[in-house]
Amino acid sequence: MNAVLLAIKNRRSIRSFSGEQIKDHELRAVMEAAQYAPNAGSQAWQFIAVQKKDLIDELSQASKDAAKNHALPFLRELAGKSDYHAFYRAPTVILVCAAESPWAPFDCAAATQNILLAAESLGLATCWIYFGLLAFDGAGGPKYADQLGIHEGYRPYCSVALGNRSGPIPDPAPRKKDTVTYIK
Ligand SMILES: Cc1cc2nc3c(=O)[nH]c(=O)nc-3n(C[C@H](O)[C@H](O)[C@H](O)COP(=O)(O)O)c2cc1C
Repeated sequence: MNAVLLAIKNRRSIRSFSGEQIKDHELRAVMEAAQYAPNAGSQAWQFIAVQKKDLIDELSQASKDAAKNHALPFLRELAGKSDYHAFYRAPTVILVCAAESPWAPFDCAAATQNILLAAESLGLATCWIYFGLLAFDGAGGPKYADQLGIHEGYRPYCSVALGNRSGPIPDPAPRKKDTVTYIK
C-alpha cells in the first residue's frame, strides 16, 4: 500500500496526548498541507495554531459553558463532566477558519483532513474537534475571535487537537457494509 493510502487507513482520532509540544518544523509542515487543500473559496481561509495552554484551557471551558444549554443531550452531558476537556489537553490546537460562504464548510473540511493526514504521516496524533467551536457561540465568542485575530467576516468551522500520542492507538470502528455502489 502506498504512503497516502497507509496514512488514510492508519489515522485514528486520538484523545490522549503527552505533555510534549510538537516541533516547529512539524507544525509548519502540517500548516502547509492545510493550505494545499482543494477549495472553492479562493483560499478564503485562515489557519490559527494555538500553543498557549491557558488559552486552550479557556476555550475548552468556554465551549463547555456554551454547551450546558445545548439542544443535543450528548453535548450537554459532556459539558457537565468535570474532567472533560474539549481538546483533550493537546498542546496544539488548530482552528480552521474561513470567510462565511456556502462553500466555507467544505473548504475547511478539506483542509482539516489534510491536517489530519499530514500529521499522521509525521507520526503525530490528532482529533478533529467540533465541541471546542462552541466557545465561539457563547457570550465570549467575539472576545475570543478578537484575541485570536480571526479576520472580520471569518469564523472557525473546524478545529483539530494536535500533539504526540500517549497511550495505545484505538482500533478503527468496523466499516459499515453496503455503503459503496459501483455502477459500470
Ligand atoms: C465534523 C467532525 C467533528 C468531530 N468532533 C469531535 C469532537 O468534538 N470530539 C471528539 O472527541 N471527536 C470528534 N470527532 C472525531 C470523531 O468522533 C471520529 O472521527 C469518529 O469517531 C471516527 O473515528 P476515527 O477518526 O478514529 O476514524 C469529530 C469528527 C468530525 C468529522
